[in-house]
Amino acid sequence: MEDSNKEPITTEPQESGAPAEQQSFSETPVKKRSSFTSKIGFVLAAAGSAVGLGNIWRFPYLAAKYGGGIFIFTYIILAVTFGFVLMIAEIAIGRKTGESAINAFKKLNKKWAFLGVLCAIIPIIILPYYSVIGGWVGKYFVTFISGGGAQAAADGYFTSFIASPWQPLLFFAAFVTIVFIIVLFGVEKGIEKTSKFLMPALVVLSIGVTIYTLTMPGAAAGVKYYLLPDFKNFSIKTLLGALGQLFYSMSLAMGIMITYGSYMKKENRIESSVHQIEIFDTGIALLAGLMIVPVSFVFSGGNPEVLGQGPGLMFVSLPKVFNSFGPVGGGILGGLFFALVLFAALTSAISLMETVISIIMDKFKLSRRKSCVIAYVGTLLLGVPSALGFGVLKSVSIGDMTILDMFDFLSNSVLMPIAAFLTCVFIGYVIKCKTITDEIELNGKFAMKKFFNVMVKYICPIGIAAILITSILDVAGVFSL
Ligand code: PHE
Repeated sequence: MEDSNKEPITTEPQESGAPAEQQSFSETPVKKRSSFTSKIGFVLAAAGSAVGLGNIWRFPYLAAKYGGGIFIFTYIILAVTFGFVLMIAEIAIGRKTGESAINAFKKLNKKWAFLGVLCAIIPIIILPYYSVIGGWVGKYFVTFISGGGAQAAADGYFTSFIASPWQPLLFFAAFVTIVFIIVLFGVEKGIEKTSKFLMPALVVLSIGVTIYTLTMPGAAAGVKYYLLPDFKNFSIKTLLGALGQLFYSMSLAMGIMITYGSYMKKENRIESSVHQIEIFDTGIALLAGLMIVPVSFVFSGGNPEVLGQGPGLMFVSLPKVFNSFGPVGGGILGGLFFALVLFAALTSAISLMETVISIIMDKFKLSRRKSCVIAYVGTLLLGVPSALGFGVLKSVSIGDMTILDMFDFLSNSVLMPIAAFLTCVFIGYVIKCKTITDEIELNGKFAMKKFFNVMVKYICPIGIAAILITSILDVAGVFSL
């Protein structure tokens, strides 16, 4: 229900992480903030940030790599426990303080301002390499619409593309430049409106492609691998991988949901919104996995090397599917698919760049225009090593991790768990759970209150610390070999 005594507020939910209102935020922190007009507006906007390459590109390759069904099983358990608790907490912190992360922690407790800064560093690390993958998607889009579907489906195409000295760089730079232009000229609204049609289109197309791939001979074994948990495949890497993916996919532990929460109205219910966002985000990830993993299993005959290849999985497997429709059909289908994925990637990258810009503005008190340029140049520079890490800079690696993998590991498997751990400690022991649960109970019962308290105080921090420490020891063991 609309209420008339508040600002009539944008009808369009603010989909970018740090909407325009935040521009003047550092100067006038108490300035009236606009908010989402309806609960569904809030849910769609938060889901718009959450759904991106994380769901379509990252989730399937992790599931394939970390044992299929057992990864899915672990992920779902973590999503309904850790994911639920953290998302509730972040949205409540945002709504209570009306601030974005960097100021929200400071407002609640001066000594904990550093946590806001830690959260702020994470999008700065993610955006450059996110844009490298965005560039890969762009490359495949161009290839398919220019009739190169058959080449794209050939073995070795992806590897030679990412190893090329200039192509990944060119597409990466093009992607970042598009994001920069959109953000600089403030046309996100148009993009977001369009994405309301294109996101459902992506889901429908993915369902169609999934049904087609599942009718291929041998697909049943792939589906079994993808969905049936085999506890033999479980390892600490599965757990850490699922945890990092959870944060990444739901845009948690990096302050984004705090910003979204700060735009949520007091009369909208946080708890049910969180359930809806989680279902949405996890549903799309599971669908993308079903579209990519079984078919990869079919094409490779279950070869663990192909399944475990990591970031390239989607780019290697799907072109083969599209190409099986012939040059014209495959071109249209592949072009359409990569265009839609490109769009999902763009909306998430815009939301990341907006966040980075607002951090620069808040911290250095610079104008929005200057901050945009700094974010752009900084992203370009930081992204170059990731873009070249599969070719020219291939020798720079740790174990089997390329430069892109290293950034990905640093943000998702190290910094985000640390930020999440500290957020739990902060809530459980500094501001106390009641501060959060009172905010949630402003408009009704908090059904999972007891669960929330126990999770935040004990299970989440202990669980996250245990996962993090065990994996660091594990990695250290690997490195000392
Ligand atoms: N959650 C997004 C995805 O799954 C990534 C993202 C993180 C986007 C943070 C915006 C902000 O792709």
